[in-house]
Amino acid sequence: MSNVPVFIEKIENAINNSLPELSEETAPIAEMLMYSLESGGKRVRPLLCLEFCAAVGGDPEKALKLACAVEFVHTYSLVHDDLPCMDNDDMRRGKLSSHKQFGEANALLAGDALLTHAFYLISQAAVDGDISSLQCVRAVKELSSLSGMRGMIGGQYIDLKYENTPATLPVLVEMDTLKTAALIESACTLGLIAAGADDCELSYARDFARELGLAFQIKDDVLEAEEGGESSDAKNGKVTYVSLFGIEKAKELAAIHTKNALGALDHFGPAADEIRQIAESLLYRKN
Ligand code: IPE
Ligand code: IPE
Ligand code: MG
Ligand code: MG
Repeated sequence: MSNVPVFIEKIENAINNSLPELSEETAPIAEMLMYSLESGGKRVRPLLCLEFCAAVGGDPEKALKLACAVEFVHTYSLVHDDLPCMDNDDMRRGKLSSHKQFGEANALLAGDALLTHAFYLISQAAVDGDISSLQCVRAVKELSSLSGMRGMIGGQYIDLKYENTPATLPVLVEMDTLKTAALIESACTLGLIAAGADDCELSYARDFARELGLAFQIKDDVLEAEEGGESSDAKNGKVTYVSLFGIEKAKELAAIHTKNALGALDHFGPAADEIRQIAESLLYRKN
């Protein structure tokens, strides 16, 4: 039987219980965070975190706070990505984006709070004895690096830099590897770190995540282009696989990168069957 529904339920519960008690004056901050964290997201990253932990024989319960930490960073990246100074998108997951609901300054603060609380959650995992101090340090190093300049922020920088500017395929690959694959990589490696995996397992997981991340972003671009009407990407003059190659070729490339991702899973044998199914289903997702 698939662990996916059980893992998703654990993730939803953990996210719902992840925020601290606040004073009367500051309580609305938690509401803003929950507004963006609330169900509607696919939870791909925390799911992969628990799946990789389980695939190498770890206890997914011990990786749960780390899984939430990655989802917090992902959610912060979306709140800031939608801001008028970035992609200027009014809607997210079928609801008003954070700045439309709470105003720009509050959306900025909500994103900041999501990011900082992610690292609080990792430290809490060590304080609670879910992971050792060394595992905690390794998880912090991993998530901070992959969400920062050499990861997601680096990719977002390239994304903005090339608005309305021609880009080559290598630039596009670097952009998507950083802005999207890096956080997916952190999800996989944090699950492995919580399980005490070895360097070889980490290395194959990185190969998997980079390929899956490319496929994931290409599919995101295809979905947006297929929505009808002028897409946000088109409006902003974004360089994407669709703008460079057209929809059909982009779909082929997403399939190729998914296949490459599956190849990197060979090392994990049948223990990674559920991860294989997740990777394949993401290629056919509708949102
Ligand atoms: C959207 O990510 C942003 C990208 C990196 C493409 P998801 O498609 O995982 O967003 P949610 O969390 O399911 O809404
Ligand atoms: C999302 O890129 C990447 C990050 C937020 C890091 P996009 O701007 O393409 O994603 P959507 O389409 O707004 O979800
Ligand atoms: Mg963007
Ligand atoms: Mg966007």
